[in-house]
Amino acid sequence: MAKSRSAFICQNCGAVSSRWQGKCEACNEWNTITEEIDSSIGSQRILGGRSFELETLIGSSSTVERVISGVEEFDRVTGGGFVPGSVILLGGEPGIGKSTLLIQICAALATRKERVIYISGEEAVAQVRLRASRLNLASAPVELASATQVEDILATCGNGKRAALIVIDSIQTMHTNLAPSAPGTVTQVRASAQALLRHAKSTGSIVILVGHVTKDGQVAGPRVVEHMVDAVLSFEGDAAHHFRMLRASKNRFGATGEIGVFEMTGLGLAEVANPSALFLAGRDSAAPGAAVFAGMEGQRPMLLEIQALVAPTSLGTPRRAVVGFDQNRLSMILAVLEAHGGLKLGLYDIYLNVAGGLRADEPAADLAAAAALVSSLTGAILPADQTFFGEIGLSGAVRPVIHAGMRLREAAKLGFHQAVLAQAQQITDDERRSGLVLRPCADVGQLVAAIAQTAPNTRPPPSSTQ
Ligand code: TYD
Ligand code: MG
Repeated sequence: MAKSRSAFICQNCGAVSSRWQGKCEACNEWNTITEEIDSSIGSQRILGGRSFELETLIGSSSTVERVISGVEEFDRVTGGGFVPGSVILLGGEPGIGKSTLLIQICAALATRKERVIYISGEEAVAQVRLRASRLNLASAPVELASATQVEDILATCGNGKRAALIVIDSIQTMHTNLAPSAPGTVTQVRASAQALLRHAKSTGSIVILVGHVTKDGQVAGPRVVEHMVDAVLSFEGDAAHHFRMLRASKNRFGATGEIGVFEMTGLGLAEVANPSALFLAGRDSAAPGAAVFAGMEGQRPMLLEIQALVAPTSLGTPRRAVVGFDQNRLSMILAVLEAHGGLKLGLYDIYLNVAGGLRADEPAADLAAAAALVSSLTGAILPADQTFFGEIGLSGAVRPVIHAGMRLREAAKLGFHQAVLAQAQQITDDERRSGLVLRPCADVGQLVAAIAQTAPNTRPPPSSTQ
């Protein structure tokens, strides 16, 4: 019998050390190391292996029939539906809507005559039912259970017709007899995931594992599961806003750039097929300080409104505040506007906000942010049918960005007529066909001059207000 001994395993990154330490040397986290019983067989000799046939890359591989969930935004992210036998990890912060999304997917699939099993390790069956009835999904033939023992779950799933989809909510609550350590530890999570993975591969059932994420965006514990599963999806959003985005950070059966957009409503998650239209709804295009940025979220073009407020300061040190934008990028844009745009911003408080609770993290958002700032400072209202995209360099030059064609087409689709972009941006004939009037801009000096031209010129300089 293999002798069991203790191992000290970091619950954050899974690194193993030989003694307990306050700080994990691999990931630098404090108080994450826990003693677990390691029953792995360290240095036994390997005997009795059988050799197997090796194959070539060319050969018959039947094209996989994908299982469509029926929730289009979800299918887009998985790369056009589930692949049978695949295992998906769905990560997200507590309360973001993972259970809601999954019960909706289960119901959509179950109503199409597939066997769907939903195992909750966190909620009682009554709670899951209550949520389903709130979502008007109570009549869907989803098979429910509240369980945490992996062996029991697999035995249950093995009974009767093969399940098309098994949802495990969440992997952190599962435990298996295969691992001796306590539930919730890395060893348990890993062993439970492995058992479920084997079940998926041998039966062809699709398994979705829910994983809770820590504050800094890592899937706690289940980080060690990420490499085993076929796809890692993360469900993100700002709890104060209704939008939720589903992204794939790993996908063995599709691209990872796709995102799905949902809106949390009183009746669960609603799909948002045209996010740009939603994000721009309610836009006040008659006020200065707002510019529309033709952005990209992964492979998907998305128009966002960037709002700026530049107001004379009453403080010794003016305020610079951002929401949904990087503070350092704002500082850089302001420095470039001062150095190369001829603006004096030292006596103004400056606020920058991305409307709708979204984030504009792309460098391509620089030009729109600069335009919004100049518009607010000068009081010039930007044309309502104008979009911006381009990166600003420290020299003041506006630099080209990728996916110009997709940005232009999205803007044209939403009724925009003009796009301000880098002069050096290569535009193919095909992209030109978007129908937008292109306004190339070489540097911030040009941008400031073009916007200031249309300013009402009624704004007093800051010194006269004091
Ligand atoms: P939930 O799916 O339980 O989150 P998770 O499983 O990721 O922890 O969703 C929790 C939140 O969603 C909860 O705070 C309430 C909100 N919600 C709605 O706004 N509308 C709804 O129809 C439902 C079911 C939930
Ligand atoms: Mg939940």
